[in-house]
Amino acid sequence: MKVPLSSPDITDFEINFVNDVLKSNQLALGPYLNMFEEKIKKYFGVKYAIAVNSGTSALHLILKAMEFKRGDKLITTPFTFISSSNVALYEDGIVEFVDIDKDDYNISIPLLNKKLKDLDRAFFMGVDIFGQSLDWDSIDYDKNKIFIIEDSCEAIGAEYKGKKVGTFGKAGTFAFYPNKQITTGEGGIVITDCEDIYKKCKSMSNQGRGDDMQWLEHVRIGFNYRMDEMSAALGYGQMIRLDEILKKRSLIAENYYDLFSEEKRIVLPKINNFNIPSWFVFVIRLDLNWVSNFLDLPEWIINFDFSERIESDKRDVWSKNIFKVQNFLNDFINKLTLKGVQCKNYFKPVHTQKFYREKFGFEYGDFPITELISSLTIAIPFFTNLTFEEQVYVFESIKEVLGEMEV
Ligand SMILES: Cc1ncc(COP(=O)(O)O)c(C=O)c1O
Repeated sequence: MKVPLSSPDITDFEINFVNDVLKSNQLALGPYLNMFEEKIKKYFGVKYAIAVNSGTSALHLILKAMEFKRGDKLITTPFTFISSSNVALYEDGIVEFVDIDKDDYNISIPLLNKKLKDLDRAFFMGVDIFGQSLDWDSIDYDKNKIFIIEDSCEAIGAEYKGKKVGTFGKAGTFAFYPNKQITTGEGGIVITDCEDIYKKCKSMSNQGRGDDMQWLEHVRIGFNYRMDEMSAALGYGQMIRLDEILKKRSLIAENYYDLFSEEKRIVLPKINNFNIPSWFVFVIRLDLNWVSNFLDLPEWIINFDFSERIESDKRDVWSKNIFKVQNFLNDFINKLTLKGVQCKNYFKPVHTQKFYREKFGFEYGDFPITELISSLTIAIPFFTNLTFEEQVYVFESIKEVLGEMEV
């Protein structure tokens, strides 16, 4: 059996809307763009929505609309997709990372609070990783100094204490690449209650045109970040089906939790009871104690017994061991792939990407929890129409590979 990592769920219902567009002669800036934005506004109970051509564009527009400038600081997690921080680099900003929680994989709130306390002016990019909300009430910050943007690209429909994520900052974003809960092909959206952010994002997404959208009048520098009409039509149909889709994904996640419940060699993400996740990907982690049966690892690493940053005299030992674990995981991934189960290491820490290391001088040992978790985690097949039979196959294959690693 072959099981893909992800697959979009598109029915005739959405296809009819897209066909409508194709027959209409209006392939851009048509009625579906407006209808899609209206649907999103209603679903989130926000005043404004601006559909764009990617989640990255949405994040970039928000930063610009909030006057993020050269030398400004963006605080975020290194355990995320690279866009969360790249958008600050587009504007010559400084990225400062804060390590994550080892159980739910979101940014560590105690470390974040410590960081925010010392800052005079900074932007915080809150990421709801893998579709699970941050603990917003526990974040302690001064509203006059810290400006919040929400990267909820992976979390459409997730809730924090009954309130939808994406609505906790000045503005929030969702992304609609085909591996997301709902898709527009390529696409993303900004949501906000702030008229100023809305107007700027709308204008900048459309080449800096003014409010009256005169075609050759440009009131500011902008981009072509527009969402086309076929994508908007697809998004419109997908939004109508969103609740149905999220329900199915949540059942699939539950199935995985049941299947893996007795499998001690695998650790599943902790689901915090303050949130209802919106399942984006399903990430499993190799248990480090189990891994240590095959690799000679120091006790302090096995027990997560290290400080916020690895001390300089331990860095060599640290990186050597992280690479050992990564190689072990790669072996695991290769074996699982041979069985037809598509999987991927999720995520490679942003600060270890070559150009981040070169620009900011980051090294292994700077964000140890992220580095260690990343060396142990993979995303396994997860999509709306994944069958129970396929899930069992994925689970049995993982068990077989665990067994193969043991001999
Ligand atoms: C957390 C996060 N932020 C931003 C993005 C960027 O979205 P896009 O790929 O549509 O630009 C993604 C997409 O995977 C993401 O997962």
